Parts: sequence; structure tokens; C-alpha cells
Amino acid sequence: MGDDLLVIDEGTTSSRAMLFGVDGRCRGTAQRDLTQHHPAPGLVEHDAEEIWRASLACAREVLRGADGRVAALGISNQRETIVFWSRTSGRALAPAIVWQDRRTADLCEALREQGREPLVQARTGLLLDPYFSASKIAWALAHWPQLRAAGDDLCIGTVESWLVFRLTGGLHVSDATNASRTALMDIHRGGWDEELLDLWGVPRRALPEIVDCAGSLGTTLPEHLGTPIPIAGLAGDQQAAAIGQACLAPGDSKATFGTGAFILTHTGGEAPLSRHRLLTTIAWQLGGVRRYALEGSVFVAGSLVQWLRDSLGLLSCASESESLARSVPDNGGVYLVPALSGLGAPYWQPSARAALSGLSFSSGRAHVARAALEAMAHQAHDLMTAFAGDGAAWQCLKIDGGMVANDWIAQDLADMLALPVERPLFVETTALGAAMLAGVGCGLFASLDEAAAMRGAVEGFAPAMAAEVRDARLAGWADAVKRVLG
Ligand code: G3P
Repeated sequence: MGDDLLVIDEGTTSSRAMLFGVDGRCRGTAQRDLTQHHPAPGLVEHDAEEIWRASLACAREVLRGADGRVAALGISNQRETIVFWSRTSGRALAPAIVWQDRRTADLCEALREQGREPLVQARTGLLLDPYFSASKIAWALAHWPQLRAAGDDLCIGTVESWLVFRLTGGLHVSDATNASRTALMDIHRGGWDEELLDLWGVPRRALPEIVDCAGSLGTTLPEHLGTPIPIAGLAGDQQAAAIGQACLAPGDSKATFGTGAFILTHTGGEAPLSRHRLLTTIAWQLGGVRRYALEGSVFVAGSLVQWLRDSLGLLSCASESESLARSVPDNGGVYLVPALSGLGAPYWQPSARAALSGLSFSSGRAHVARAALEAMAHQAHDLMTAFAGDGAAWQCLKIDGGMVANDWIAQDLADMLALPVERPLFVETTALGAAMLAGVGCGLFASLDEAAAMRGAVEGFAPAMAAEVRDARLAGWADAVKRVLG
């Protein structure tokens, strides 16, 4: 057996593959962008066949540079996005409905009005929001006749489930972290919940078997990657990032600033019920034993900068946001609440819309860019308050994701949270976490603690902002959010 670990990291905007040595060194990487389909406002779809082709192409590309010493494959993926395919042909039967899609807002609202949210929260740790897979499945079954017509041939799964099915030629499994995001899983017992399947009208036979995050989970068909490779690690990308950041003990917290921003605090064997509109989720499952986390999910982070660049033409490139933010001494009273696809935690307002406020003739492009970057720390601060209220106060925040390569954001987070912030030199923690799981799953490491040696050096950012400056900003933000919530 070789000792390199291959990872497929299938994100919202791109598929990537990476090859890691057991020392954590990344030996190669390949990436393909993913087409975003917006058939109507608030609707976001992916072509599942494109996800498969792009992931396979990336894995093949990265393996071309390798010398056949791959021990195992790990997969991390965008969560909640749901795929529908045929068991016999293995082909997608409909578009994949993406986690950002809001088409089921009314359905969720109707169930909330019927008083169903406490049941959903108690069983799944989640809330009634279009973000999660269950309402998307219910909508698809009601609107896409080919899915009902497929009968027993219909397979439903999250993205890792889809990739494993295609890679293995028919194994229908989902790991516990991804299953925990469907709003169909009893996260305390570890299986699909019959009452919730009934509530959403989801046929049990179309769902995958829920499995551990590491172990002998399947083997790829030789025609796909040149040789059969054991699939030994599976996790939703945010759980993978928490593992890659070595958030392995209760209290350890990480924030990933990618398309959205997702903050997880490890809670160990406890699955606390949030009283502050956070989510309880499975951090990992190994040997049938589950570890849990509290999560704050913010829907818009890096996608805000992309929108300023691509839709408003305000930036020539994403990195210009940092120099613009630095070019002014403060936000000049400008605030941007980035509710471009509603608001996630802790507000959960799918119908909220973004607002730019506090503009005057003295406001310029730099103030808007600065307000956009400041929104990252403002949103993180809202979550920090909720986590503390749930008894999971942060001592330090480990940050990662494309956005925090920006030093200005990293320092602003430390300043606004008044907390030490830690950033690894190797920021691809999602892929690293999947590699760690695969390393444990194939026996290269005895435990995640041992695999954590793969995480390299980190750099720290210490809070350095005067309390009155922070307080003034937080007051301005609270005011702006109030207007958005109406
Ligand atoms: O819950 C959605 C999340 O998994 C998406 O992650 O990295 O694609 O923004 P990312």
C-alpha cells in the first residue's frame, strides 16, 4: 500500500482534487469551476453530471503527477445539496438543488406555523429552513414527475453519496455528517427518522445507508482512476474543515469563510439543543460513535465579494477589496447586510434581502468595499453571542477558507471578536480534513488525534482595537440588521 492520500473536495463553485503526503504536504492540486444555474430568482441548481465529470477529471489530473502510491481516497463536499439519480443507469434524473436554493421557503414557513419546528429541532438539531435537504426533496418529488415515475429505481443522496455511487458503480451510502444535514436523520440515534420521512413524504427506499466517516467504505472501479482505490474518508466540507483545523476537543472552534461562512464548535459526545437558533450537527462518526458540534451557518461571505466584482463591477478583482478597505480610515457610516439569499444563523429569515445603508455624498467605492469586508466580522460577532448564550463560548477562533488569505479580514475578526484568531499557513483545511479521515480509515493513522500531525504551522492575530471603536461598529451593524429584518 502507498501512503499518499487522494482527496476530492466538491465545493459549491468548484470541484477540486488534491494529493497529500502523510506529513500533510500537498503534492498536487487540480480544479474545475462548476456552472451555477439560476432558473429564477432564489433558485440555485447544479448539473449533477457536471459535478461527477469535474470531480473525476480533477482526480485523474492530480493522479497523473503521482507515482501510483495512493493509499486511499477521502471526499469532502458541499452539504445539503441534493441529487436524484437512477439506480440502474447511474444517471442523474433531475438537476441537483443547491443548499442556497430558497424555493421551499413557503413550505418551511407553513410547517413552522403548524408548530412542527420543535420536532425537527429535537430530532435533527436543525431548524425549518429551505437550506436543508428535506424540503428540497419534497419539492422535487412534487414537481418533477420523472422522480415519482422512477419508483424503486430512484436514488436520492447528498453530493458525497452521488460521487461514491458513481465511483463504485452502485454503492448507495451517505456518511453521518452529510446525512445529519438532510433534516431526515435522528442525530441522536444515527438513523433515518420515520416520522420525518412521513412529514416530508420521502420514500425510505430511495435513501442511502448511513455509514461512518472513516473506514473501508467502498472501492473505486478501476476504469475511473486507473486502479481500484479504497474510499476511506467521507465528510461534509464544514465538518472536514473542523477536523483539518484539529477541532477535536470540546470547545475547539473554527470558522471557514468560503462561499458562505460556517462556524463550528466541537461539543464532544453531547448534542446540545440550541436555545439561540444555532444548529446541532454531527462532527464525525467513527466506529458507530458520534461526536457533535454546534454550528452557525452564514449564507453569504466570499460570494459577496464575487457579487461586488461580477454583478456591480465595483471591484476589478477579489483581492482589490483588501486594498480598498485599507484606503479609508473607517467605514464612514456605511454598513452592508449581505442577505443576498436571505439570512441564516442566528436570524433564519429566508425572505430577508440585502441592504446597503448609511450612504452620503462622501461615501465612495472604498467605503462600500470596506463595509462588505466588515460584514464578515459583524456576522461572526452575531454568532459569537449566540454560541456564548448556548454555553459554548469561544476562547480562540481557528479561521480558514479563501477569504481569510486577506490579512485585513483576519485582523478585523480578531479585533471585532476581541479574541485571538489563528490561521494555518496551509488554508485548505477542508481537503486536509478529508485526507485525515481517509488516513484513519485506511489505517495510516490510529486516530484523528494522530492524524492531526498533518496540520502544519499556524499564525496568530491578536485583538488590537479600542473597545469604543468596536462598540460603535457593533451598534451601527445592529441598527442595519434591524432595518433588514423589518
Ligand atoms: O452548507 C453549505 C456548505 O457545505 C457549503 O460550503 O465551501 O461550498 O461554501 P462551500
